Amino acid sequence: MNQAATGRLSLRERLRAREGRGRVWVCGHRGAMGYCPENTMASFERGLELGADWIELDVHLSRDEALIVIHDETLDRTTDGHGLVRDHTLAELRTLDAGGGEHIPTLDEVLAWARERETIVDIEIKNAPVYYAGIEQKVVAAVSAAGMTDNVIVISFDHVAVRRVHELEPRITTGVLYGCRPTDGGVSLAHATGADAVLPHWTYITPEDVELAHEAGLAVAPWATSDPAVLRHLIACDVDSIGTNHPDILRDILVSARKVAQ
Ligand code: G3P
Ligand code: CA
Repeated sequence: MNQAATGRLSLRERLRAREGRGRVWVCGHRGAMGYCPENTMASFERGLELGADWIELDVHLSRDEALIVIHDETLDRTTDGHGLVRDHTLAELRTLDAGGGEHIPTLDEVLAWARERETIVDIEIKNAPVYYAGIEQKVVAAVSAAGMTDNVIVISFDHVAVRRVHELEPRITTGVLYGCRPTDGGVSLAHATGADAVLPHWTYITPEDVELAHEAGLAVAPWATSDPAVLRHLIACDVDSIGTNHPDILRDILVSARKVAQ
């Protein structure tokens, strides 16, 4: 059983209270994309097998407005299809090979799996370069319908989308992604959206910025690296979670350092 999803406190409370202070949650980036075709059910399952406490995925909308789990706005890099996700129906997308015979999952499918596995899902709304009007409402509705309101964190580089999710369903934990070093540890970016967590690219992590975010009650969850030296540096900076393509590498380091969150 994955205990990240079973504590008595809500996910938000756990992040804000920094439950297990000094310990680090393992986030399986696109599942375990270092070993499996990214953003597939096989990758998510493998991520948990390799010690991820939760898994991260990316969502886009199909032509018929279904929430589709895939990283790029186009099909070409990760499937045998071509063109924009937006230009294909769910039925068309379901016929594609996303690698190793895996299909492209829907968000509903992954949420049902995560509920069954009692794990948390980190849902990244991709809203650029293709802008999906209303994707926030669809994500909130899918999370609610799956009974996963307290077991997801919704994140985006589109901070307006993060704010919309927070306004639509304040019980959903949210986080802001960015690839820069803000002047205040990301506190103002989080406060502008109601977010509970900041997710800087790992290259911008400093102990001072982590402390600023923690003082403001925010969790710090950088992404995405599997380099042991970098992972040790991030752990030493006292981050709360790390996104990695190789959950087992991070898990092993945390076990050695006695900083396993679960
Ligand atoms: O978890 C955040 C991270 O996934 C953002 O970057 O390009 O891998 O979606 P990207
Ligand atoms: Ca992502």
